[in-house]
Amino acid sequence: MRLVQLSDIHFGSLFRQDVYDLLVDEINNEIKPDVLIITGDLTDDGLLFQFKKIHEEIKKFECQNKIILPGNHDYRHTGYLLFKKFFSSKQIFELGNVIVLTLGTARPERDEGEVGHRQNLWMEKTLAKYPDHVKIIAMHHHLIGIPDTGSDKIIILDAGDTLRSCLQSSVNLVLCGHKHRPWIWKLGPLKIAYAGTASSNRFRGFFENSYNVINIDANKKIELEIKIVGGEKFPLDDLVEKYTSFKDSILF
Ligand SMILES: [Fe+2]
Ligand SMILES: [Fe+2]
Repeated sequence: MRLVQLSDIHFGSLFRQDVYDLLVDEINNEIKPDVLIITGDLTDDGLLFQFKKIHEEIKKFECQNKIILPGNHDYRHTGYLLFKKFFSSKQIFELGNVIVLTLGTARPERDEGEVGHRQNLWMEKTLAKYPDHVKIIAMHHHLIGIPDTGSDKIIILDAGDTLRSCLQSSVNLVLCGHKHRPWIWKLGPLKIAYAGTASSNRFRGFFENSYNVINIDANKKIELEIKIVGGEKFPLDDLVEKYTSFKDSILF
């Protein structure tokens, strides 16, 4: 099974239509995923015209299984009321031997995220019903901090509790968006992957539009790659192994 995680489309003033069109074309014709997961910040400001536009744009992806969750930008200007009118609030997706759960971390008119005690309990209870599945959690905010992202407010307020719930529930992979910095951490059997911005100029530490490609084989082995829009595809691990600081990597 092949999944694509793309994130932080950010339809608004820094949105790149040309990049988005290229993104749609290569995902439809080259990557051809079974599942498309969009981990939030579809819009820049949560405004009605932005939701209308991005709702139409997302229809261009031919993938049958789309999993879409909100980010903090989508919940601005009462966008939390609009998001549920344009997109489903379904949180459980059983796809063959893979179970994907989404966690709502965005809160109205706030940039910080949290999962909350009840949602953590719900995740544990739900995942217990799928002991033999590959378990994937998708959320907008960060579960663990990553380089080049500054403030500790980027992680969910209850990161420790959620991390414990993920480990106790034998989650295999957590997918995060939010700060536009592709990355991966491994914590024992748990992988935590972060996507860059798919189609905006809001770069941070990594100056290409990108998304993540996740291949899961019949033996439940998970392979994670980053795909630069219109460019190369390589293991997400390489970003960590070849990391150079922001100061060293900036291009002049
Ligand atoms: Fe974002
Ligand atoms: Fe965000």
